[in-house]
Amino acid sequence: MPIVKLLSENFGRREARDIRWYRDHGGYEGARKCLFELTPEQVVQEVIDSNLRGLGGAGFPTGRKWTFVPQESKKPKFLVVNADEGEPGTFKDRQILTWDPHRLLEGMMICCYAVGIHTAFIYIRGEYVRPAEILKQAMADAYREGVLGPRCLGKDFTLDIFVHEGAGAYICGEESALLESLEGKKGWPRLRPPFPAIEGLFACPTVINNVETLSHLPRIVVNGGKWFAEVGSPRNGGTRLFCLSGNVKRPGVYELPMGTPLRELIYEHGGGMLDDKALKAVIPGGVSAPVLAAKEIDVPLDFDSLIKLGSMLGSGGVVAMDEDVCMVRALQVISHFFAHESCGQCTPCREGTGWLEKIVTRLVEGQAYSQDLPNLMRVAGNMIGTSICALSDAAALPVRSFLHKFNSEFEYHAQHRRCDVEERKATATPLARSAV
Ligand SMILES: Cc1cc2nc3c(=O)[nH]c(=O)nc-3n(C[C@H](O)[C@H](O)[C@H](O)COP(=O)(O)O)c2cc1C
Ligand code: SF4
Repeated sequence: MPIVKLLSENFGRREARDIRWYRDHGGYEGARKCLFELTPEQVVQEVIDSNLRGLGGAGFPTGRKWTFVPQESKKPKFLVVNADEGEPGTFKDRQILTWDPHRLLEGMMICCYAVGIHTAFIYIRGEYVRPAEILKQAMADAYREGVLGPRCLGKDFTLDIFVHEGAGAYICGEESALLESLEGKKGWPRLRPPFPAIEGLFACPTVINNVETLSHLPRIVVNGGKWFAEVGSPRNGGTRLFCLSGNVKRPGVYELPMGTPLRELIYEHGGGMLDDKALKAVIPGGVSAPVLAAKEIDVPLDFDSLIKLGSMLGSGGVVAMDEDVCMVRALQVISHFFAHESCGQCTPCREGTGWLEKIVTRLVEGQAYSQDLPNLMRVAGNMIGTSICALSDAAALPVRSFLHKFNSEFEYHAQHRRCDVEERKATATPLARSAV
């Protein structure tokens, strides 16, 4: 697949942070077109036609999501930008915030015009200190130049934007926890319904979108929704930023059309596996996504294809693991993360994440009990679909997939109380290793 740079063309260019440079290179033309040439309904229709899907993780069609917000509302409506980027293996929003902050601001203007919003918030991950500074500078420039504020680009349309820094909790990336946190409360997910489109921030209708999702809007408006849809695969419009990490030669952020095969991402763009070792497993969409075995890497990277394969595209965080990775240890790292990040509101999640970590740790440390593997499956099964938010499922689904696809490794740990991968590494001669 060709490299198509819709979002990443300014990555690495410091000058793109300058509002004058951005405007000289076509910046804010999408916002201008909306404000002066299109009705809000036409903008929503372009976004629906584009097949743009939410790139924060769930992949919900963006234009459709906006239509759930009531057009007439006695309460104010809000846009909240999810820049919390906490999913392990994911580091794409950071690139947009760092290199192309005006593209995000322009995307926000387009969304706000389309939905009739005059106040927006950006909830940014607390650790993103430098990206937050760059973003605030870009906003100050946009206010100074009359792009934001009481008369955006000279049109009778007001938009004010506020930045709020998070405090390091993964759960605050979940949209309803994010809203609670933004309201100054503990970041606990809310029961739904009501959904944020009806009762979101301060109980007002709210659109929540991810940084990458919104940053696609300027191009969609300038070139048309149908053009964007054609760049991607059916029902999955455009490109996305894939974050490639793990044991690959060239880790990094790669922008590729939706539907690019996973094999191409790893072996062409990522240069293949480090030291030319064999690929063993891939997590295709952040650690919440069920793992894939090496034989499954011909899957097209789009939301629908990965769901068909029992996994998900999620946040676009692709982690490739080679033959020397112990899958039991890899699962321990993931289980520890979820046990640490569960907010503790729901019993299946609070207790389940703790038990998953405890049992997998026993397996890693050579202290397995005979019933550990069936118990892992039982605990995971009790966590799916039984909690307030998707963190519980996100913690349980990887367990099932690791045990299903790499069962022999888990069995070996359970029966022999040692790691077969470590043993093989210790005894393998360079010749024997190259034959693996
Ligand atoms: C536990 C959890 C953590 C999440 N973390 C993030 C995050 O860091 N960034 C993000 O954009 N979406 C995150 N999401 C997804 C959001 O809840 C929401 O779907 C997204 O912000 C909607 O924007 P989109 O439609 O543009 O993708 C998370 C979801 C869950 C369940
Ligand atoms: S599923 Fe877990 S993280 Fe989500 S609300 Fe319940 S306890 Fe909190």
